[in-house]
Amino acid sequence: MAKLIDGKAIAQEIKNNIKQQVNQRLSEGRRAPGLAVILIGNDPASEVYVRNKRKACEETGILSHAHNYDNSISETELLDLIQQLNDDPTVDGILVQSPLPSHIDEEKVIEAIAPDKDVDGFHPYNIGRLAVRQPTLRSCTPYGVIKLLEHTGEPIRGQHAVIVGASNHVGRPMALELLIKGCTTTVCHRFTQDTSAEVARADIVVVGVGKPGLVKGNWIKPGAIVIDIGINRLDSGKLVGDVEFEAASERASWITPVPGGVGPMTVAALMENTLVSANNRD
Ligand code: GUN
Repeated sequence: MAKLIDGKAIAQEIKNNIKQQVNQRLSEGRRAPGLAVILIGNDPASEVYVRNKRKACEETGILSHAHNYDNSISETELLDLIQQLNDDPTVDGILVQSPLPSHIDEEKVIEAIAPDKDVDGFHPYNIGRLAVRQPTLRSCTPYGVIKLLEHTGEPIRGQHAVIVGASNHVGRPMALELLIKGCTTTVCHRFTQDTSAEVARADIVVVGVGKPGLVKGNWIKPGAIVIDIGINRLDSGKLVGDVEFEAASERASWITPVPGGVGPMTVAALMENTLVSANNRD
């Protein structure tokens, strides 16, 4: 049976450490780091994510600045707000919760954020830095996954990693992180001809698609490490990942639970990015 990778506990350790560093800043007479969190509309999942991020700010001593708007906000108004936050010396991080309403161009919004305040690590500058092995602010979920892999104590360099899902925010930066770690890295996506055959060769499987049960337990190579980034709410209300958890647990050496695996690590990485950004600024 696979051992569980306890993302919740590992994220808590990281947040405790950040809180100490924030307190150290304060004791030196420096200001607390500040994170602006922009939430547009009332998507229930986004509301939960944003609440968790604001709660983590409280836990770590980071000041969170709430900017809530309804769906009628125009793209220009949002871009103006971002410009104002770019110029605000008390703001170290700017986070625009996605998804955005369809009349707003998400790429334009991300590119409007000053790269040194892009604590989500989504700006093309920060993605490009990751691509050339000189990471600056790193995408939170992939960076959180790397920390989970390190926590297992298993070898990572030279392992064959297979990522399922090639999204801009998860799969692609995940591939860049695993390359930096020295993995032979395969990315599967909607045009991949035989994803099951790719997964079956993987020492490390990372899945981020958003489809419950997409990766079958019997695809997993015995002894592989399985990281499940998916969070899906079933009609029953139950939260599940993209991997058949029970069946995969019978073959994997390590596996992340959903919830309590990758999710809390994304939030911890966001707090870390905000602290790093503040330390870089003053
Ligand atoms: N929507 C779902 N996850 C995320 C995230 O990590 N950051 C942002 N900005 N939006 C999201």
